[in-house]
Amino acid sequence: MKKCLIAPSILSADFARLGEDISQALDAGGDIVHCDVMDNHYVPNLTMGPMVIKALRDYGVTAPIDVHLMITPVERIIPDFAKAGASYITFHPEASNHIDRTLQLIAENGCNAGLALNPATPLNILDYVMQKINIILLMSVNPGFSKQSFIPSTLHKIRQVRALIDKSGYNICLAVDGGITIKNIKNIATAGADMFIVGSTLFDRMNYKKTIEDIRFELNKI
Ligand code: DX5
Ligand code: ZN
Repeated sequence: MKKCLIAPSILSADFARLGEDISQALDAGGDIVHCDVMDNHYVPNLTMGPMVIKALRDYGVTAPIDVHLMITPVERIIPDFAKAGASYITFHPEASNHIDRTLQLIAENGCNAGLALNPATPLNILDYVMQKINIILLMSVNPGFSKQSFIPSTLHKIRQVRALIDKSGYNICLAVDGGITIKNIKNIATAGADMFIVGSTLFDRMNYKKTIEDIRFELNKI
């Protein structure tokens, strides 16, 4: 059986009791905490900064934290997120003037690096940087908000990226972000995803354990 990672996206969590809510999602079987950082500039929404990541670490969250940066400029604040406790830092290539340099900066700060590709971003952006990437995150919605519908053409893109990763021989995780539901997760996994970022599907339900069990049940079908 293939290893599938479930990443609760905290954009849909209860911000008034964030530490507790995330710990419950992790205790229920979540693998990686996904934090959406938005700046009301690169995307039309505003969320959290490094101090929230630090607060989660101080609260006792020990699971890996993937910081999904939807901000521009991207470089200045990367060391702050690393210091705050990020494990992975993922950014959008459109938000960086120097993609290779930004990937290098993330590694120099002791984090794993990811590139997040919007639905219309072509894959050739990956051509010369595969060796510097730990995660390729395919957006299956346009970035900025939770609770949007999965864009069906992403399935084809997932298959293409799966083939690219397998051909490269690098150990790169293929993450999919946006609109993942218990109904569509099996098709997303079959197309080749390794990490499933789930926001509203998880946090909008009362019973996280049952929801993650339902997700695993679907994933075990492939
Ligand atoms: C959207 C974010 C996602 C979002 C997913 O820009 O990157 O991580 O929280 O939320 P759902 O799972 O509700 O689509
Ligand atoms: Zn995200």
